[in-house]
Amino acid sequence: MKHVDDFRLKFGKKELVPIIIGGMGVDISTAELALEAARLGGIGHISDAMVPTVSDRRFKTHFVRDKLKLYKYNVANADKSAVQFDLGRLAEATRNHVGRTMEEKKGDGMIFVNCMEKLTMNAPRETLRVRLMSALDAGIDGITLSAGLHLGSFELIKDHPRFRDAKLGIIVSSLRALQLFLRKSARLNRLPDYVVVEGPLAGGHLGFGMDWIKYDLGMIVAEIHQYLQNEKLDIPLIPAGGIFTGSDAVSFLQNGAAAVQVATRFTVVKECGLPPQIQQEYFKASEDEIEVNTISPTGYPMRMLKSSPAIGSGIRPNCEALGYLLDGSGNCAYVTAYNREVSAHPNVKKISVMDKTCLCTHMRNFDCWTCGHYTYRLKDTTRRLTDGSYQILSAEHVFHDYQFSVDQKIALPA
Ligand SMILES: Cc1cc2nc3c(=O)[nH]c(=O)nc-3n(C[C@H](O)[C@H](O)[C@H](O)COP(=O)(O)O)c2cc1C
Repeated sequence: MKHVDDFRLKFGKKELVPIIIGGMGVDISTAELALEAARLGGIGHISDAMVPTVSDRRFKTHFVRDKLKLYKYNVANADKSAVQFDLGRLAEATRNHVGRTMEEKKGDGMIFVNCMEKLTMNAPRETLRVRLMSALDAGIDGITLSAGLHLGSFELIKDHPRFRDAKLGIIVSSLRALQLFLRKSARLNRLPDYVVVEGPLAGGHLGFGMDWIKYDLGMIVAEIHQYLQNEKLDIPLIPAGGIFTGSDAVSFLQNGAAAVQVATRFTVVKECGLPPQIQQEYFKASEDEIEVNTISPTGYPMRMLKSSPAIGSGIRPNCEALGYLLDGSGNCAYVTAYNREVSAHPNVKKISVMDKTCLCTHMRNFDCWTCGHYTYRLKDTTRRLTDGSYQILSAEHVFHDYQFSVDQKIALPA
């Protein structure tokens, strides 16, 4: 019986354990977690979502405080178009986060950064260019483009000296999205180095509508695999979403996948950024406590625990300090929803907004408990302690369980 360790992900001459820990925004996939994946011979992701906030937390910088100081006059104003990111400071924050992580890297694996296009930051092209360029400057091994079609992203970095040497990949949820991207990248004579195919059971935002349940990861992967073979395109395919055991991974690897990308099982390890009390919520969750909803202002459905404090919260938008979801004209669906509720209930002190959430603030505070579909199985991956809580795992334990387990078994911690 085969295990994941019988396979290798090949990038040119480099061979890796074919396990990739996916990016989990706003420092849920911490540098510490990514460094463990690299040390163990696989690939880890950090994320550049809200990177000034992450830099402040990690390095005691003051990017967020300074931005708020600059725009404080605008806090009560519904028009947020004036609230712009300073591109120099954004570059500095990215270089801090990426650069320090790369300096600490040990082992044969790699570290990539997850870069979401939907973080439009009130100037989509300019901010995205700075994020991508600065990550390359800071020596990142690779960039995974996510949450968007990224049709212009390669163009933004084509003059960077590392454009052809860093590993560049994209996350898609359909053949159609991949075809659009390939058409664009062919013009620069630069194919992606890998393609992550993310199915409907993943955590975070989904590349599907609310009819996500009709889709199946295996079928999308098979369709894309066939297409790449027909086109004679040798691009590693990496399925993601609901791959919960080593055996699940092996069945994809035997069917032509080059590696797997996983995340949910790592939400309950000590290296993960989620605070321990929230990790207990993930362990405890039952299947009916997990939902896919449309409260993210990005417009993409998102999976989360129904008990997330972010749901229904009516806090004042925090765009002057944060503002990562403002589109190119300074609009955010939460700001619109919030203002609508404030005008409808002029005398109410604490309003509730049900249809959208202030994702920036709630992700920063770990109050939006986004999770994969199989979060309800996490309780079966550990031991119950005498006080009734669940034992937090280590990244090494979970990584090795994926790497070596067979027969749908899950190893419990010592
Ligand atoms: C808590 C959490 C946060 C996530 N955040 C992001 C993100 O910021 N960007 C992204 O591209 N994918 C994100 N994902 C998706 C993962 O990177 C990964 O592709 C997917 O969850 C794999 O499926 P699994 O969780 O069932 O293993 C997130 C997943 C989880 C569980």
